[in-house]
Amino acid sequence: MSPDPFRDDSVTDPEDLLAELAAVGAAAAAGRATRVGFPVATDIDYSPLAPLFAGLLNNIGDPWTDPAGTNHTKQYEREVLDWFGDLFRAPATDRWGYLTSGGTEGNLYALYLARARFPKGLVYYSADAHYSLPKCVDILGMDAVVIRTDERGEMDYDDLARMIDQHRDRPAIVVATCGTTMTEAADDVPRIRRILARAAVRHHLHVDGALAGVPLALADDGSTLRLDTTIDSVSISGYKFLGTPVPCGVVLTRRTLQQQLGQTPNYTATVDTTISGSRSGHPALLLWYAIRSLGHAGMRERADRARELAAYTVDRLNEVDWPAWRHEHAFTVVFPTPPAEVTAKWVLASSDGRSHLICMPGVTKEGIDAFVADLAAAVAPRAHRRRAPVPRSRRTAETPVPAEAALSAQVAS
Ligand SMILES: Cc1ncc(COP(=O)(O)O)c(C=O)c1O
Repeated sequence: MSPDPFRDDSVTDPEDLLAELAAVGAAAAAGRATRVGFPVATDIDYSPLAPLFAGLLNNIGDPWTDPAGTNHTKQYEREVLDWFGDLFRAPATDRWGYLTSGGTEGNLYALYLARARFPKGLVYYSADAHYSLPKCVDILGMDAVVIRTDERGEMDYDDLARMIDQHRDRPAIVVATCGTTMTEAADDVPRIRRILARAAVRHHLHVDGALAGVPLALADDGSTLRLDTTIDSVSISGYKFLGTPVPCGVVLTRRTLQQQLGQTPNYTATVDTTISGSRSGHPALLLWYAIRSLGHAGMRERADRARELAAYTVDRLNEVDWPAWRHEHAFTVVFPTPPAEVTAKWVLASSDGRSHLICMPGVTKEGIDAFVADLAAAVAPRAHRRRAPVPRSRRTAETPVPAEAALSAQVAS
């Protein structure tokens, strides 16, 4: 006889449930110090917001239309959007955006908007752009060209100019990545802008700033990431630099561009302008709490400290003869993948023989020292590595030896 499909043996004693939940929390917390390969800040204590997770908060629809009832946080969402709008210098009377489920949705929205502006537009993104870009292009049925990158992950601008020139009959939808996933390279937005101006094609310039968008904008002198003059949309992640305990993101553009997409009022008393209909209202409160607790100055200080720690990490790794480098603005430190005994303990992001760790706010100097000590102990028996020469033109104070060159020398020796 087959088992009764309605027999419910999944009901668990409440005490056992609580014990299991506590174990999940303890396991996540225990691994925090060694989880340095992925960009999640851990220095902001969001626990005061825990009671607000007892019920649904639904920011359904457009941030500027409130749904019926009070279980939403749209007023906080609008305040958060204004903070980001100021940061990216969106015109006060011409800004629009919403809180997304994360960086991917922000990119999807931006391409959806760009396609509405330019139905025949051709998307250009770099070979080091996030994997969400080809996915979004595919979902939207758009055409795309992948632009070459240099060995440090930055877009090859000559290739971009050449490709735009070859497709001058189509508007250009260019995605600049500010903080590539593997090396945190930042594509040069003003330079891309100049290429587009020179080519005289109609265009939409989107910035995927999931990781570095906020730190770069905080450090910007006002000439780079500007929604009033240099860029048309930007997507960032909320759980990376701001370390929210749930994935979320922000997408911003100008209202005059957004209005080219439909505005459909519906039975919820809101207008359907967002990709998701129902959206959690918790991220708005979390981001509002972080912004109000720290302000601009506090945020800038966190970014400065993260960069200082990244510079320290590069020095420490080079001291133990494990060639490391970073982009000048970056929290990410890149180096050859350490031996297995190190990667078994430390959660790094690795690809093609190269790994990185990211000095997000919350990573400590003590943590870095412990990582370097583990690495030094693991590689001590292989002390006689030979270094590959580095072309002098490529060397900078921040890049003593590209990791790949050192790695191939090591493999060869
Ligand atoms: C550059 C970049 N873009 C987009 C994303 C996608 O973000 P999410 O995972 O929040 O969708 C990431 C995530 O790591 C990223 O690094």
